[in-house]
Amino acid sequence: MTEYDVIVIGAGAAGLMCAAQAGQRGRRVLVVDHAKKPGRKILISGGGRCNFTNYDVTANNFLCENPHFVKSALAQYTQWDFIGLVTTHGVAYHERDHGQLFCDDSAKDIVNLLLAECDQATISQRYRCEVHDIEREETGFRLKLNGELVRCQSLVVATGGLSMPKLGATPFGYQLAEQFGLKVLPTRAALVPYTLHQEDKTRFADISGVSVPCSITTESGVCFTENLLFTHRGLSGPAVLQTSSFWQPGEAVTIDLLPSESLKEVLVAMRDKHPNQTLKTSLSRLFPKRLVEVLIARDSLPDKPLKQLDDKQLDQLHHYFHQWSIAPNGTEGYRTAEVTLGGVDTHAISSKTLEARDIPGLYFIGEVLDVTGWLGGYNFQWAWSSGWVAGQHV
Ligand code: FDA
Repeated sequence: MTEYDVIVIGAGAAGLMCAAQAGQRGRRVLVVDHAKKPGRKILISGGGRCNFTNYDVTANNFLCENPHFVKSALAQYTQWDFIGLVTTHGVAYHERDHGQLFCDDSAKDIVNLLLAECDQATISQRYRCEVHDIEREETGFRLKLNGELVRCQSLVVATGGLSMPKLGATPFGYQLAEQFGLKVLPTRAALVPYTLHQEDKTRFADISGVSVPCSITTESGVCFTENLLFTHRGLSGPAVLQTSSFWQPGEAVTIDLLPSESLKEVLVAMRDKHPNQTLKTSLSRLFPKRLVEVLIARDSLPDKPLKQLDDKQLDQLHHYFHQWSIAPNGTEGYRTAEVTLGGVDTHAISSKTLEARDIPGLYFIGEVLDVTGWLGGYNFQWAWSSGWVAGQHV
């Protein structure tokens, strides 16, 4: 029976980082994945350019039932450490809004970086490999890989969340946690577009591709100011994806379609200057014309010359555009979600080592844990930080 010091299940962001670190410490490491190649999510991330971290990372950028949990790993391996690694490997990158860092060329650069780090040690990798029959032994674990029995002292679960099953996502890590008596918190798709009720879906499908800056607030009071994108299925864009992690089914969201100006003040000024200008023409100076047409038709807005609109009507229009309320009928689910909320309960995991407190040698890292980052490179930073930390302890 082949024996390893460490077996890492999952050759994604967290698993490869962990394997490279453990290997560089001289551990005999095997990484296994049922997919045919490593890092498939990395390759498609950030529109193919991988938003690999963010200049500004704090625990506040993560959702977790145990809010202090992420602090230790994020402090042990920071965004600056990963940026240093990126620089050492000569990967060119640039900053976009909100401190987000992307590769200049391709997300492949990040996968190649991780594989090059693995190559600095002797790390075995097996793809198209099914993992079965994991059992705990006195000094480690025994498992079957494509039917072959192997042993390891430390077992690292880096199988990610449920989003994008087409790319190989499975509930394997949750099932394994439950097998060892660990609690798994309910999971839900996050960083995901909203779908709309049929009538709105049809109306807004006509303006699919239109994007507007806005602020979206959930019923729990969480607010993000970013772009909103109308799609043929519903609502997307960064503002929507961000709030989807905080939205609960059945709730409405409130959208300020003009977050940096007062609509009433703008309309009053227009009314003074151009009294015969219609509401539609006036609004089309502020918003995309096709959106204005859909909203006028949908909510019977008074499309008259501005001089015919009294202050009360302007107040109503002001309220409408600054507090446009819409109730999604759901989300697009795991099919298009970037991440999964919930997962292995972190209360049973050491925040300093990522080892299960009551099961020596068993580690959980990355998205399989109940740790979900905001949009903006935070999920990869969690994968790097948690993978690096476990890599020092396995
Ligand atoms: P990850 O999912 O990367 O890896 C898990 C691995 O486990 C996979 O290789 C899988 O095949 C394997 N596996 C699963 N079940 C198995 C089983 N039963 N047996 C063997 N192997 C198994 N984040 C970010 O910070 N910036 C970004 O730009 C993006 N962009 C983005 C775009 C899209 C479309 C998606 C879907 C996601 C993102 N993300 C992101 C999120 C980011 O990709 C995600 O949080 C990390 O990849 C999580 O890393 P993990 O290593 O935990 O899981």
